[in-house]
Amino acid sequence: MVPQPVCESETPRSLLPIELLAATRDKHHALNLQILKNLPLCVPPASDSPILYAKGMAVFGQIYYAFEAHLTACLEDKEFDETLRDLYKRIYVPRLLRSPRLRRDLEIVNMRLGDHGKQEVEDISERSMIYYRRIRAALCAKPHVLLAYMWTMYLALFNGGRWMRSQFFSAGSSFWLGQDFPLSFWDFEDPTGTASNGEDLKVAFKENFAEASRLLDDTQRDEVIDESKNLFDLCLEMVRFLEGGPSLLASPETFSTHIAATNRAADRSPTTGSLVLPAWHYVASLFGSLATAASNTVWRRKELSSD
Ligand code: HEM
Repeated sequence: MVPQPVCESETPRSLLPIELLAATRDKHHALNLQILKNLPLCVPPASDSPILYAKGMAVFGQIYYAFEAHLTACLEDKEFDETLRDLYKRIYVPRLLRSPRLRRDLEIVNMRLGDHGKQEVEDISERSMIYYRRIRAALCAKPHVLLAYMWTMYLALFNGGRWMRSQFFSAGSSFWLGQDFPLSFWDFEDPTGTASNGEDLKVAFKENFAEASRLLDDTQRDEVIDESKNLFDLCLEMVRFLEGGPSLLASPETFSTHIAATNRAADRSPTTGSLVLPAWHYVASLFGSLATAASNTVWRRKELSSD
């Protein structure tokens, strides 16, 4: 092989995950603030039933449904391009798949909500299929941008997702309308099938991802970064859709009631948005205890104490 001349002005690019983190930092921050503002409205004391949770998950679930359906369909397709198949196989971790879990969780919540609630969740789910179709089309056009969906949506589970999980679990059994909480979406198992916070999966996923991303050329890497930025925008659009969709809440009055109840509970003025800051501090300290290997114990203890 003839050695290629090295261009001295060319500096090697950082690893893709590092570039992704830097490129999405501001968008992530904006999205965090919106989620931290809205999530308390879905759980006690602002809410006494899981209907808003179900609606939110029915909408955000479209992202997981779309990219996981694309991934599994492509891996089963004998005609699928070999280079892409190699890429997909490197990042495919079956234990990470969330769609079957979320579908099952939502079936349980819907059953508990009764006919009217179930209909409302199904309506919003139907309306948000537009997101599903949009993502499937994006992945068909540029299959390598699957990396953007996996990086963004799986790592979300291991960071903010851990905090969100703790919020939902602590809502208790009267909120979930039953002793068992339909929250398997947020749960992971270790290879022996024991419940865990998925730290091993996160590490394996990050390693596989960094390896797989070496297969991309510069243009493809740029497209993955752009798609991840688009995805954060899409998440923000979903929050807006959930905030403003007429079928999200029974009426605008109900929405104001939720906000008023939350603000009363937190003894804050509605205009300050000051629920966000304490929540952020809570998240920061929670991460400290969740991110270590020993956190599996904390994990189970938390669950027990929330019952
Ligand atoms: C749909 C919503 C969200 C998405 C898509 C998302 C996505 C991500 C992604 C892709 C990362 C990078 C992970 C890594 O490189 O290891 C991350 C990190 C993080 N996220 Fe989120 N996130 C979301 C919501 C939240 C929320 C609500 C919080 C706070 C409650 C949060 C807190 C964090 C923290 C603390 C980190 C670690 C930052 C760091 O290591 O620099 N996220 N998130």
